[in-house]
Amino acid sequence: MKIRRVGVVGLGTMGAGIAQVALQAGNEVVGREVSEDLGNGARSKIDHFLTRAVEKGRMSAEDKEAALGRLSTTTELEALADSDLVVEAIVEELEPKRELFAELERICRPDAVLATNTSALSVSKIAEAVEHPDRVIGMHFFNPAPLLPLVEIVRAQQSSDGAVDAAYEWAEQAGKQPVRCNDTPGFIVNRVLIPLLNDCVRVLDEANVTPGDLDRAMTNGAGWPMGPCELVDLVGIDIHNHASEALHAALGEERMAPPERLLRMQAEGKLGRKTGEGFFTY
Ligand SMILES: NC(=O)c1ccc[n+]([C@@H]2O[C@H](COP(=O)([O-])OP(=O)(O)OC[C@H]3O[C@@H](n4cnc5c(N)ncnc54)[C@H](O)[C@@H]3O)[C@@H](O)[C@H]2O)c1
Repeated sequence: MKIRRVGVVGLGTMGAGIAQVALQAGNEVVGREVSEDLGNGARSKIDHFLTRAVEKGRMSAEDKEAALGRLSTTTELEALADSDLVVEAIVEELEPKRELFAELERICRPDAVLATNTSALSVSKIAEAVEHPDRVIGMHFFNPAPLLPLVEIVRAQQSSDGAVDAAYEWAEQAGKQPVRCNDTPGFIVNRVLIPLLNDCVRVLDEANVTPGDLDRAMTNGAGWPMGPCELVDLVGIDIHNHASEALHAALGEERMAPPERLLRMQAEGKLGRKTGEGFFTY
């Protein structure tokens, strides 16, 4: 199935970015938020990023206006009835997601693909909430979605080839780098990166290294494009800890659990770039 109309549920950090990706790919987009204000806020944010793209010469002013013209925001889930693909990006909790998918199944066409952007929940458990779970998949975008190319296309136990392929083709056509994987904890990148970043943070105390020196070690000695402390600050200490706890709960390995140091930083409100302080000051 060719995807032309995209619904996005939840227009927060990820949903607004995913809506922007779809608009830039030429899709009609309906975004659903819980209030009109939040919908308008997401529109302004997308407008701001597209304006910057125009200023940098990466997009024409006409294309920007056309893209914004393809976006509508709503508080009514029924407005997504005509979507070919719906991407869910609401809170990272199983029950609200399951309830939403059950409602989406009632509202959307039977051939619409229903995707969750969950980072750490089981896509198969979300799919269990609907009667025809073969249409449910994961589409795991990375933050910021308009800038980071990777999309993990996650096959739940119940997902059909058709749903996986349609999402893969859409992501490719939207200029992304889709990669297929099974529904296992952390999928690909987080499964590898989260314990690795936890090890990096533990080394700070074990080897008595400063965050600046650790970052210099990993960029100069291992060829990392960005140091681990800078990366955790960018992701957000709270987001990292949450994903880390989920991975620890699912896989039980000690190195998956957030290090004491990160838990302390979170308790002190040092969440990285977004609060102006993390390993570094911004
Ligand atoms: N932030 C990240 O780095 C990141 C990366 C990949 C995946 N994710 C996943 O994406 C999802 C969203 O994360 P986020 O960081 O964008 O969260 P966020 O808090 O920024 O946004 C969530 C939005 O969903 C809205 N919402 C809640 N319930 C809703 C409903 N029933 N209908 C419509 N809107 C609803 C909220 O008002 C909020 O604006 C989570 O599952 C998260 O795990 C996040």
